[in-house]
Amino acid sequence: MPAQSQNIYDQVWNPREYLRQYYSKDYIPDDEEAIYQRLIPCLKRKGRRFTRALDFGCGPTVHLLTPLVPWVEEIHAADYLPGNLLEIRKWLAAEADAQNWDLNIKRVLEIETRAEVNGEQLEARKQLLRSKVTTLKHCDVRQVHPLGDASVYDLVLSAYCVDAATDSKQEWRQLMRNLLALCADGGLAVIVTSRKSQHYKVGDKRFPYANVDEEDLAAALMTSGFDPDSAQIEAIQIKDWAAEGFDSIVIAIAEKR
Ligand SMILES: C[S@@+](CC[C@H](N)C(=O)[O-])C[C@H]1O[C@@H](n2cnc3c(N)ncnc32)[C@H](O)[C@@H]1O
Repeated sequence: MPAQSQNIYDQVWNPREYLRQYYSKDYIPDDEEAIYQRLIPCLKRKGRRFTRALDFGCGPTVHLLTPLVPWVEEIHAADYLPGNLLEIRKWLAAEADAQNWDLNIKRVLEIETRAEVNGEQLEARKQLLRSKVTTLKHCDVRQVHPLGDASVYDLVLSAYCVDAATDSKQEWRQLMRNLLALCADGGLAVIVTSRKSQHYKVGDKRFPYANVDEEDLAAALMTSGFDPDSAQIEAIQIKDWAAEGFDSIVIAIAEKR
């Protein structure tokens, strides 16, 4: 497997700065709400139990793992940067300086139960999530085997990762093939990307976006053997990150043949 060159993430990414900017508001930003509003009902509708789920390119976040908890036996989270995985490790160990995900976890529970959520329910979900996250892995989507092994998952989730790993749409297509190969036959993929955007900002630093849209995502899924009849692919306008560089996203949920 050829070694890959260092990139902007190796050079200037700061997990705490990212968490501060994107995950420290006192409300749920509209893109996260849009993801929850599609993912949670979809998992409920399918009613399917998954053996192993993967959040690929999770960054320093656990918020998208929360909706998976009722449906999966085991969760793996993977990211390119050890510093991001360290933030997750801190949350799993309930360390004092870990990111506080209570607002997101509470919102997920509210959508699941369609009711007010109390502190006991919140704590129970946190404990269950902590017990289901069994493995944190290094990944690099530029590799044909992005996890460095042959593992596949019956549920693969990835948000703002492959589109954030390159500014070239052509390269994005290849990276999507690498990512989607991690989904087992008959498995489910949940992909969130920025839409028609060339960068996002963290502080005054600019990171790439691949300038893709819903048609690119549909084509990538079909090329990798996903069933078009199963695919739910939606372009969604958002407001909260316009100043950061993107004002729409695509959410795709599809099953592999
Ligand atoms: C915008 S963040 C998204 C993080 C998280 N999924 C979220 O929704 O907040 C982009 C992530 O892509 C990861 N990344 C960058 N290059 C990568 C690569 N070559 N392979 C895998 N992940 C990469 C970064 O480490 C970072 O965590």
